[in-house]
Amino acid sequence: MQIDLVFTHIPITDEKLSDRTVVMVDVLRTSTTICVALANGAKEIIPVDGVPAAMQLLGNLSRDNVLLCGEKEGKLIEGFDLGNSPSDYETEIIKGKSLIFNTTNGSVALTKMKTAKSAIVCSFVNITACAEFIAGKDDHILIVCAGNNRQFNLEDAVCGGMLVNILQKKIGREMEMNDGTEAATIIYHKYKDKCLQMLKHSFHGKYLMSLGLGKDLNFCAKIDSCNFVPVYSEGVVKLDMH
Ligand code: MLT
Repeated sequence: MQIDLVFTHIPITDEKLSDRTVVMVDVLRTSTTICVALANGAKEIIPVDGVPAAMQLLGNLSRDNVLLCGEKEGKLIEGFDLGNSPSDYETEIIKGKSLIFNTTNGSVALTKMKTAKSAIVCSFVNITACAEFIAGKDDHILIVCAGNNRQFNLEDAVCGGMLVNILQKKIGREMEMNDGTEAATIIYHKYKDKCLQMLKHSFHGKYLMSLGLGKDLNFCAKIDSCNFVPVYSEGVVKLDMH
């Protein structure tokens, strides 16, 4: 098994993905929010790249069963129904609904994965389920850290490194890896068992805390609180029903 990792979605282009199983990692907060939303009964999440794309898509759908979700600079977008705090995605609000989802990094990264052989959403909350999904494949794996504003971020690198560590234990054989994967596993071991502390230490974690959103970090640090894999296919994210 070959497993590569990139620290931002910038290098991702369509032609590189057709034979890859791609793992999108955006711990703070897109991947975590997507897991919580699906766990709480959302029908699907439709990631978009930008507010204009969200509004254009909304125009083609019945407003009754659709919510506008996401953030700009970490905050609720004016005119949207929900921001990007996982705890806001309560069952009574989202059950059965299609969520048009626009965020700074995570939703953009997903929209670039339309041609992937398979694409899944990973965070700490569903990391073992993701490792089990990947272990069952003999594909060329590509972990895409969403990053933060086109830059490296600590939390996605640690999560990617943890995923590789869990996977190595599951498959029990050596894996071919690029330098990004090697680096992420080293970074992971520095913060091993200090997930919440690491999030509070990260640049984006500190920014979210400055907005009064520190509770989101606790949510995002709940390792394996979800036991399923969101799969991105044909432009929407749904639960993996296999
Ligand atoms: C992202 O896309 O990186 C996150 O959604 C940003 C955030 O939630 O603050």
